Amino acid sequence: MCGIVGYIGDKNITSVLLVGLERLSYRGYDSSGIAVISDGELSWWKRAGKIHELENTVKGLNIAGHIGIGHTRWATHGQPNEVNAHPHISGTPKVAIVHNGIIENYLDIRDLLISEGHVFQSETDSEVIVKLVEKYLAESTSLEHALELAINHLHGTYGLAALSETEPEKIVVCRKGSPIIIGLGDNENYVASDINAVIQHTKKIVYLDDNQIAIVERNNVRYKNVNGAFVEKTPQIIKWDSEAAEKQGYPHYMLKEIFEQPTVVRTILEKYVPSGNQIVFKDLRISPQIFKQLNRFIIQACGTSWHAGIIGKYLLESYARVFTEVDFSSEFRYRQMLTEGSEVVIAVSQSGETADTLACIREAKLHHFPILSFVNVKNSSMDRESDGVIYSHAGQEIGVASTKNYLAQLVCFLLFTLYIGRERGTITQEESDTLIIALQKVPEYISSILDKADQIKTIAEKYGFCREFLFIGRGLNYPTALEGALKLKEISYIHSTGYAAGELKHGPIALIDSKLPVVCICPSSKTYDKMVSNIQEVKARKGKTIVIATEGDTVIKNFADDVIYIPQMPEELTPIVSIVPLQLLAYYVALSLDCDVDQPRNLAKSVTVE
Ligand code: G6P
Repeated sequence: MCGIVGYIGDKNITSVLLVGLERLSYRGYDSSGIAVISDGELSWWKRAGKIHELENTVKGLNIAGHIGIGHTRWATHGQPNEVNAHPHISGTPKVAIVHNGIIENYLDIRDLLISEGHVFQSETDSEVIVKLVEKYLAESTSLEHALELAINHLHGTYGLAALSETEPEKIVVCRKGSPIIIGLGDNENYVASDINAVIQHTKKIVYLDDNQIAIVERNNVRYKNVNGAFVEKTPQIIKWDSEAAEKQGYPHYMLKEIFEQPTVVRTILEKYVPSGNQIVFKDLRISPQIFKQLNRFIIQACGTSWHAGIIGKYLLESYARVFTEVDFSSEFRYRQMLTEGSEVVIAVSQSGETADTLACIREAKLHHFPILSFVNVKNSSMDRESDGVIYSHAGQEIGVASTKNYLAQLVCFLLFTLYIGRERGTITQEESDTLIIALQKVPEYISSILDKADQIKTIAEKYGFCREFLFIGRGLNYPTALEGALKLKEISYIHSTGYAAGELKHGPIALIDSKLPVVCICPSSKTYDKMVSNIQEVKARKGKTIVIATEGDTVIKNFADDVIYIPQMPEELTPIVSIVPLQLLAYYVALSLDCDVDQPRNLAKSVTVE
């Protein structure tokens, strides 16, 4: 959570910091701040609200200086106001600290420091770090040493950047459980919590590992293990294109990302089915023998990725015949991790940094589970810490509400299922070929839904005033109902819930009246007739039905107030396509309510606190 950026060099310092923060703002956007050293003196500016509040504050100030750090916050401890915003600043000499993560023992440290005469201004956990540095700076020779002594006290997670008037030519960064990268330039260097903040300046990146410190100067960067020896680190050249971080004519990133989905599917097919009908996962790195003898997959994920995981379960159980559990990472982590020695843990994550999912990987490794991750962001912590990886190849996703990566994860799960099914002999080559051929048509199917954006907008405007929505589906499209409901609530703040349609009569049906829109995902499938019965149950109680159905289904019109048709396709593909109208529905409802689609309140794209 939260974003960190820092710079030392000759570029305009405020511009580098503010643009960097803007690009990190998907990690949190409730307040922000920067600190800059100019002529040996540290100055800082902080504001509550989105980054433009800070921009307005510093615009026209002509801030000089060639070294600074900045932070965009997602509040954990203390309200999102100016005092709690980062950087946190010490007394004299002045030190500025920006922090991502949570310091779990901050109250104990705070009490201790108060008893020693330190005065606190904020309600944050982070302020104890700057006070500890202040304390140790009085007794030690360098910022780096003071920071090392300070972090020895901390329990919890941190990605930190520090700046001090005592050494105005360096930024010191360190990490434990929260990412920090160093971007290497020519006569300049950058630090950040992720590459988005610096990718427009440099593609030469060093990933700091946990319990490492970097001392970053204009022409030199030194790395060391905390309280230990200096270490060599090799930079990686990142292939990401900074253009992906632009809206390219779309009014919102979310809409752009929805419209990119046909291309995403094509890319995945090119990567994993490069020729003919053979599925190749280059980075799987888990021996086929393990998959052949496997008794169980344990999928763990959060949010939208968890929904993709449930579809993964349906597919893996049906076609690869492997018992598959799906759990929220935040629950799995604290359950007894029972193993019989023939399970694989699958982590699903867009960012590869979600704290709960990452913590599960680490815990599962201690229990000797092989770990396979489905991730989008290359070089993320999960990518680096897993035994094998299946990249979702969705490209950079910036809209806080995940869209194209969800769809990409579904395609990856389907290909993975076919691969495992073939390895285990549970499906024939012919069955696999049929689905691959059908998958190749999916980009076209998605495009046909995108062409209906205006129709979906009209439906969204018709129901946008409703304060509650239900979403129902069955089988493979039960998770579609969950995901459709999540999209709507995330960006429009309308209460919406997804249900397995069969569960309707066990409670939620009590909610139905003439004011309640019920979104019914009802493509041709094994459970079509049952779905139609459920839709009729809604209609019988005067509920309003918005139905996703298959082209040619004329019967459904009798029970639907509005129908959005998707093309005919094998049932296995329907969750990939039927989520698209629901993404557009959520988008246009949010738009009609004037909500901030790309940065909904209280959310962050990458949740790096537990
Ligand atoms: C946050 C985001 C969601 C996302 C979830 C899991 O809550 O707002 O869109 O689904 O984190 O993120 P991950 O990066 O692990 O998929």
